[in-house]
Amino acid sequence: EPRRTWVSGRSSFLIVANRLPVDRTIEPDGTASWRRSPGGLVTAIAPVMQRRHGAWLGWHGAPDEKLEPLEQDGMSLIPVPLSAREVELYYEGFSNATLWPLYHDVVAPPVFDRTMWEAYRAVNERFATAAAEVADEGAVVWVQDYQLQLVPAMLRKLRPDLRIGFFLHIPFPPVELFWRLPWRKDLVEGLLGADLVGFQLPGGAANFRRLCRRLLGLPYKGNEIFLDDRVVTTQAFPISVDFGELDSMVREPHIIQRAKEIRSELGDPEHVLLGVDRLDYTKGIGQRLEAFGELLKDGRIAPGEAVFVQIATPSRERVEEYKRLRDDIELQVGRINGEHATLGLQPVQYFHQSYGRDELAALYLAADVMVVTPLRDGMNLVAKEYVSCHQDLHGALVLSEFTGAADELRQAYLVNPYDIEDVKRQMVAAMRATPHELARRMRTMRRRVATYDVDRWASEFLTALEQPASPTAMPDSA
Ligand code: ADP
Ligand code: G6P
Repeated sequence: EPRRTWVSGRSSFLIVANRLPVDRTIEPDGTASWRRSPGGLVTAIAPVMQRRHGAWLGWHGAPDEKLEPLEQDGMSLIPVPLSAREVELYYEGFSNATLWPLYHDVVAPPVFDRTMWEAYRAVNERFATAAAEVADEGAVVWVQDYQLQLVPAMLRKLRPDLRIGFFLHIPFPPVELFWRLPWRKDLVEGLLGADLVGFQLPGGAANFRRLCRRLLGLPYKGNEIFLDDRVVTTQAFPISVDFGELDSMVREPHIIQRAKEIRSELGDPEHVLLGVDRLDYTKGIGQRLEAFGELLKDGRIAPGEAVFVQIATPSRERVEEYKRLRDDIELQVGRINGEHATLGLQPVQYFHQSYGRDELAALYLAADVMVVTPLRDGMNLVAKEYVSCHQDLHGALVLSEFTGAADELRQAYLVNPYDIEDVKRQMVAAMRATPHELARRMRTMRRRVATYDVDRWASEFLTALEQPASPTAMPDSA
């Protein structure tokens, strides 16, 4: 239970995100409890915030509740309330039924609804107003992710003295897809309120610059977009994990012991394959299960030789596409186990649950093959967490080409998740690789994640943000 000792005051460093790092859940009997919030944004920002002084403004995960600021794990948290209707229209609606699928290559059809848009605008206004009240004179305000794309411009209007950064955790789509949005102009103008707009990959930043030129006729040169009175910098900052923390966790005897227990509870198979995701249709969970099921059917995996552990954290459960996905995945798991299980041994172990950091680290350590097959993913921190947990240089990573992480982790067994034969081939290659081959790949991947960890990500972004506006001249013809 967090302490409530935060004294209201102003902050010179402020994070603004849809979610706080803790989630207030109301149990069916009405009692409230705090849990760590799901997803990669919180995984990345929480350690950064614990090491820098500042405040975090965000929603606490429950509707119709106005809470006082609180202090937790060395972070000052300022809850922003959402009504039940706003949760439905702004969060489940515009954020997760419109923007999320549109920005992820329309792997599910986006919903375009004017009422949802109105709610998105109103909630963004509330976040901007709250940030304007808390930020000190000349403060650095760092706005996060697709739920709050209007905040930079709204905040600049209220507080022109601030230094405003924005980071998009998900992919920024090609112009042709973004163009469908009836509110395309508002969203782009919202983002241009920032001094620095950060993306996971250079491709996302390039998409954004092209869009600004096509949509608003704005000239750009290199990383800079030229507005009438100022310059907006766009740049890629690939997000990462707290490598040091994970690396030292898996050296602790109780985690090593737990990893052994996990393997024996699974019946000590030769190969433990693992998937860890929010239950989201962008993650390609169905594709990896299909590949595994076919390997069992083809006899390329002998009965009892391998177990696939799939952990799927509940996510956005009231959104239609997520309900359908859950039914599909659970049906698929049931089918595979129905066809291939023997008494006491199910080849797919499926858990629709959330786990603590220790248990997760033990699972990563226990897994011989980590299977990460998103159809599209901004970065994918699970892949980097797995690598961080293998100082033993054992373990193989099967990784989709459509993740941001694939740009850095070139020594993974890279796959096209739309090509089931390819996924099968690489899963088998990962299982059959020699220890020497595994070590060679793992060593290079670990070097990358150790160097580009989450602290480096944050400090590169903040250094770029604090730089004075560039003296580069505007191009004459653009
Ligand atoms: P996303 O942000 O889309 O959920 P990422 O892979 O970037 O995807 O980040 C997911 C984060 O959530 C990781 O830090 C991972 O450890 C955590 N996570 C995923 N599934 C679980 C789970 N079942 N229990 C606990 N943490 C989980
Ligand atoms: C992704 C998004 C985050 C989001 C997280 C969890 O990482 O980029 O903004 O917080 O998923 O999703 P949720 O809807 O539960 O916040």
